Amino acid sequence: MKYFQYINGELFIEGVAISKIASEIGTPFYCYSSTKIESEYKDFSDAFSKINSTICYSVKANSNLSVIRTLSNLGAGADVVSGGELLRALKGGVSPQKIVFSGVGKTDQELEMAIESDILQINAESLSELSRLNIIAEKYNKIPKVGIRVNPDVEAGSHDKISTGRKEDKFGIDWENVGEIFVANKNFKNIKLVGLAIHIGSQLQSLSPFEEAFKRLEELLTTLMSENHKIETIDLGGGLGIDYSQDLVLKISEYSKLVTKYFGNYDCNIIFEPGRRIVGNAGILIAQVICIKPGIEKQFVVLDAAMNDLLRPSLYGAIHEIIPITNNGPKSPKVLADIVGPICETGDIFATGIKLTNISEGDLVAINSAGAYGAVMSSFYNSRPLIAEVMVKDNNFEIIRKKLDISSLLNYESMPNWIKT
Ligand code: LLP
Repeated sequence: MKYFQYINGELFIEGVAISKIASEIGTPFYCYSSTKIESEYKDFSDAFSKINSTICYSVKANSNLSVIRTLSNLGAGADVVSGGELLRALKGGVSPQKIVFSGVGKTDQELEMAIESDILQINAESLSELSRLNIIAEKYNKIPKVGIRVNPDVEAGSHDKISTGRKEDKFGIDWENVGEIFVANKNFKNIKLVGLAIHIGSQLQSLSPFEEAFKRLEELLTTLMSENHKIETIDLGGGLGIDYSQDLVLKISEYSKLVTKYFGNYDCNIIFEPGRRIVGNAGILIAQVICIKPGIEKQFVVLDAAMNDLLRPSLYGAIHEIIPITNNGPKSPKVLADIVGPICETGDIFATGIKLTNISEGDLVAINSAGAYGAVMSSFYNSRPLIAEVMVKDNNFEIIRKKLDISSLLNYESMPNWIKT
């Protein structure tokens, strides 16, 4: 099934014309295909149906409650990195016994929440975190299960800002020092060290960094097991890339083969934390052209969406394909244009020097592959509202997050008496 397609020159998401949604709710807005999310999740889980595994959707990619609920209905667990995400996962119907809490700096309050909620596993990233966990667990009279995030020192081959498994990165415990952590753990009576975890980066387009990391992890695993440490879980993180614009996309079947090669023979629960792969290509950002402004060398197509709505192009130079919503043959000749937002920064740019046909002021465009790390990374910058999110299923659509108007934000602000006149 095609989830996004032109029918008689009109872009549809599943059975709903984008222009219909836009005319009802205005622009800009995020729009997700529920069936695409389900299908991506099923592809992932089917690939691992033969091994003992838990698929913990990485909530940070898109934490809308409807997205989480769509996945928890299919049996998905959740990977969370804050108290807020834990709350969302629980509210979205994820079983606590399928929730993993990761993150390099969890507060005491967040650790308390995790312990109280009896989640599957807390991934610790330092000795000091283990020690804090031990103290908090004693207070709650519980023995939480804990994994150690290992830094395997590998190059993910992805964007520098989203590579997380090199020794100079802040994440995890250097793989050479993990053994000592297991020894030190003997002093912590209130936690149960059950597993190892890695996450080497995001938007990976090759299997070789995974393989390098798996090798290190497996070495560590056999050493620890030979020293009689009982390992129940192996958390392999997320990282599988998607196609933004002619990117290489790893086949889940190839990834699954690699996982089975290294870990298939261990009597362990293999945890996966996919985010982008599940939701990235299931969402688009719809915007309207405010104006087309001629420049000296090129035109500027100014949209009503901006970097506060979708930060990826500004932050990582990420390329997102931009397409018109109505595609009825050329209205105007192809011209060189930058597609920009209205925010007062030169970096507020969605695409540089592209040739866009069929575009006039007032037209709608879709910025593709915006389902992951889109809405979740948005902000109120320039005092712009947080835009609506819409989910489509077959011929129906529903607003799953209302536009968050700036007046609501102003309710959180106050002026001390001394500056009031
Ligand atoms: N597990 C852990 C511990 C993570 O840190 C991440 C992502 C994931 C799983 C999910 O990774 P995925 O399957 O989505 O690649 N904002 C950036 C991406 C940051 C990813 C952070 N960690 C972007 O827009 O590209």
